[in-house]
Amino acid sequence: MPSDALFLVLLGGPGAGKGTQAERLSEILGIPQVSTGELFRENLKKETELGLLAKGYMERGELVPDEVTVGMVRERLSRADARKGAILDGFPRTIAQAEALEELLVEMDHQLAVVPNIQVPDDVLLARLAGRWTCRKCGAMYHQLFSPPQEEGVCDRCGGELYQRPDDTPDTQKHRIEVYKEQTAPLIDYYREKGLLAEVDGRPGIDKIQAELLEIVRGL
Ligand code: AP5
Ligand code: MG
Ligand code: ZN
Repeated sequence: MPSDALFLVLLGGPGAGKGTQAERLSEILGIPQVSTGELFRENLKKETELGLLAKGYMERGELVPDEVTVGMVRERLSRADARKGAILDGFPRTIAQAEALEELLVEMDHQLAVVPNIQVPDDVLLARLAGRWTCRKCGAMYHQLFSPPQEEGVCDRCGGELYQRPDDTPDTQKHRIEVYKEQTAPLIDYYREKGLLAEVDGRPGIDKIQAELLEIVRGL
């Protein structure tokens, strides 16, 4: 009998707003945000073996190998706070990762509830990435035009310092979008065929998209 836990995957290109929405949904729904990008960045900061392995791939805007990524997610989902579910942000990103996730969830006696796909055109993705600022301490996300902090360079939530991600150079941004199209976009059809996909227009403001995502989750 599948559990009543809630597991969802947020799909969308780089800058679509996966992290922004995952953070908000996590707070509202009381289940953790599991962002593989964030987990790699934490490992990088602590200079763990995993972080050092991921470093080059991330700097180039390439995907970290599947086995490494899947192993990291397996460990994260085995922690107690993920028993009630999780909002997966940035994972899976390849068909092989999606298949591994399915196996993982079966092992845990869970299943995916829904996969919202946040659709945003390339020019908007680039504009969002170019203005993004992230809190070094708590990971909160800001945008210099669309959701600026009250005080420049300082996090509203925790007072931490805001920084720009090293993989947000114009060349890497463009490359991440190409990698997304080649390796991750096939997941849209994959999940559509499984009847799990929910299309979300990612162009409106953050609050509107949040409301739409909540409607999808509450309608399950
Ligand atoms: P990751 O950290 O996942 O980066 P990404 O996919 O490139 O996505 P982003 O985090 O850049 O965008 P987002 O969709 O979260 O947008 P955000 O909410 O910040 O991955 C980084 C790297 O790690 C990868 O390149 C790879 O090397 C590695 N990696 C990670 N996962 C992996 C995996 N599964 N397999 C292999 N390798 C992996 O929003 C962007 C900006 O827009 C913000 O400033 C925000 O304030 C603003 N904004 C958001 N929504 C709106 C809105 N509706 N209107 C206006 N502004 C908005
Ligand atoms: Mg993100
Ligand atoms: Zn903060």
